[in-house]
Amino acid sequence: MHRPLRLLVGGCALALAIWPTSAAAWGAKGHQIVGEIAQRNLTVEARSEVDRLLHGDDETLAHASTWADRIRSDESYNWAGPLHYINGAEGAEDIVLEQDCPPRGCVVRAIERFRDQLADRQRPLAERREALKFLAHFIGDVHQPLHASYAADRGGNRLLVTFYGEPVNLHALWDSSIIERNLSWWTFRNWRGWAKTLDRKTTAVEKRTWANSTPLDWAQESFDLARSHAYAAQAGDDLGSAYHRRNLPVVEERLRQAGVRLAAVLNRVLARER
Ligand code: ADE
Ligand code: ZN
Ligand code: ZN
Repeated sequence: MHRPLRLLVGGCALALAIWPTSAAAWGAKGHQIVGEIAQRNLTVEARSEVDRLLHGDDETLAHASTWADRIRSDESYNWAGPLHYINGAEGAEDIVLEQDCPPRGCVVRAIERFRDQLADRQRPLAERREALKFLAHFIGDVHQPLHASYAADRGGNRLLVTFYGEPVNLHALWDSSIIERNLSWWTFRNWRGWAKTLDRKTTAVEKRTWANSTPLDWAQESFDLARSHAYAAQAGDDLGSAYHRRNLPVVEERLRQAGVRLAAVLNRVLARER
């Protein structure tokens, strides 16, 4: 390659590698990791149906799983805004669906609804494709502890802290900062490699146990983790390696569970004979 061109390309690659990214809901990397873990756990049948649905559009589950955030700037999808999370009552220890999922919807009911749409082979392909993309995203979201938390601080969005000296809200710290920090350190932003490592760490017993649960169970687990781990921080805290070390295992387990459960749902609803 021409030397100036090579420098330009190298410079761009470096800039991409160190540029901080921000996003709402598990940052893009979190969703991509969940999608990649799921992809690795699909049956042949489910994989071929996923390929058929995404063909010519968002080819991989990892890419498709970030679509629901990419359309958030599109006003015609404003109705989907409340579907990314669920909040429990102030001070409550349990999510009570009848009370906590308002008529406009919530992440638990959204998962059920898009799962059922995807399963229904009478529906048009385009509708099932969109259902698959929403489902892949929302199963990721419901595993982020602060996506099942409290409305008062909007799931930590209004709780400002610093993380390694950088100002950030607690929600974004759990969506992105913990993951981004890890990727930039030991995997040089290789989220696919991290997903592979996480998947290999997961035993067959874990996979079977995790799959045997409902979307409401997943939200309750997140709610418990929000209260026990995320909210261990308070507004104004300077968080760093201690908070990071304590919560990285939680983030990793949630990513593994989300990937395994997404695959389990897809394997079930996309099996040819049900
Ligand atoms: N907005 C209000 N509550 C929220 C939550 N728990 N997660 C994301 N966005 C929210
Ligand atoms: Zn989301
Ligand atoms: Zn979020």
